[in-house]
Amino acid sequence: MTAPLIAVFNGPNLNLLGLREPEIYGIQTLDDLEAVCVEAAERLGIAIDFRQTNSEGELISWVHECRGRAAGIVINPAGYSHTSIALMDALAAVDLPVVEVHLSNIHQRETFRHHSYVSVAARGVICGFGFTGYRLALDAIAEIVEQES
Ligand code: DQA
Repeated sequence: MTAPLIAVFNGPNLNLLGLREPEIYGIQTLDDLEAVCVEAAERLGIAIDFRQTNSEGELISWVHECRGRAAGIVINPAGYSHTSIALMDALAAVDLPVVEVHLSNIHQRETFRHHSYVSVAARGVICGFGFTGYRLALDAIAEIVEQES
């Protein structure tokens, strides 16, 4: 049996991990984060498609492409979490399990970060655990996919 494919999508400015506000996001890079996810995927027996974009439209197109291709989506929508009804609509439209993840604890930060449109389309949200949050998100989505297949 082929391993289920999980999309791991990262939104704007996450390409700057390691350089960007290290006191909030840490000193490790996006490549380091991908390595953490690849290791978790191997442990869980899933395949991942790990990507980052700074473009809202590209992120939405990638979500559309998941239809019929991926078994679930782990997404850190970054700033688009708080602004993008279009991304929320795309995630709802593809009808796949979605786990939203944030490196920082968005509820401990500015009030405009407390609301996420994407959460409306997500099964669950993990925030505040840094890179560990992605491992937890992959654990959760692998379990959901296994239970629902
Ligand atoms: C973030 C939190 C968002 O509020 C912010 O815009 C980001 C990163 C996080 O991972 O903590 O870019 O999604």
